Amino acid sequence: MERTIEQIHEEAFKEIKSVTDSESIKALSSRYLGRKGIITHFLRNISSLPQKKRPEAGKRANEVKKSLDEAFKLALKHLATESLQSDYKIDVSLPGRTIKQGSLHPITQITWQICEILEKIGFDIAEGPEVETDHYNFEALNIPKNHPARDMQDTFYVSDNIVLRTHTSSIQVRIMEKFTPPVRIIAPGRVYRCDSDLTHTPMFHQVEGLMVDKGISFGDLKGILTTFIHHMFDKKTSLRFRPSFFPFTEPSAEVDILCVMCKGKGCRICSHTGWLEVIGAGMVHPAVFENVGYDTTRYTGLAFGMGIERIAMLKYGIDDIRKFFENDLRFLRQF
Ligand code: DAH
Repeated sequence: MERTIEQIHEEAFKEIKSVTDSESIKALSSRYLGRKGIITHFLRNISSLPQKKRPEAGKRANEVKKSLDEAFKLALKHLATESLQSDYKIDVSLPGRTIKQGSLHPITQITWQICEILEKIGFDIAEGPEVETDHYNFEALNIPKNHPARDMQDTFYVSDNIVLRTHTSSIQVRIMEKFTPPVRIIAPGRVYRCDSDLTHTPMFHQVEGLMVDKGISFGDLKGILTTFIHHMFDKKTSLRFRPSFFPFTEPSAEVDILCVMCKGKGCRICSHTGWLEVIGAGMVHPAVFENVGYDTTRYTGLAFGMGIERIAMLKYGIDDIRKFFENDLRFLRQF
């Protein structure tokens, strides 16, 4: 006796349920729905049914065909997922891991803060090369060869006349050669010195400042740096200008702020002096003006330079500069 379409439908479902791999599902699908498959055969034979029964049988057979087709596809999908899970021992239904967003390096953040404050005071940003000639790094800044001032910095020499810049002061000269006063620039960037300990790394960052015009005075320098410190640290931060020496400025000063840790009482960070040196500064030396062809009878200028890591360490209370460059995410994520 021929099976009815309902019986075929039922048996097919039983078989689908018992199959455990996708190859067998494909074989089963072809056995039922293929060109010589059971359903196809059934559909062909409809013409041999009595006229009255044909439309209903045809309709039902097509419904079963569609239902089986869907069942085979679904079974294949399930098996594929299962095999993925067992192959990779993962739960493919788990939601994906989100990609964590990075953040700016603390040194970048402090550099931007410094620049933002000084830009508001009216400085433009300038840049210069990290591999520098002896002329721009030393000579034009009134530091001739064999001058004892060269010992202030442990220079990396690339060749006799080429160095890795030891400070961003070299940019002062490049800018003055290019532009006539008024000049008002700050220059952030990497600098290099052969030095390494708790407070020194062979590469670190500085921001240089230069302002040249008619009538620039030491008062301007004090005003600018006081405003800067008050914005960078705290409006109440005390600071003092201490006489110092730099070959490219006369007079020269170092700017100290009251120790941010002990507030002047004296501690390890400030070497028990109560003060922290943060900026080197002064009035541009006439010899530097002469080297760039500025008229020393018309113009005066102020200059300053600061270490960015130093500012960052004081602001964040970090005692080892090397932490900035170890790329330990547990450290970096705190900023
Ligand atoms: N270039 C100096 C250094 O690296 C810092 C400095 C001091 C920059 C005085 C200046 C300045 O512009 O006037 O130690």
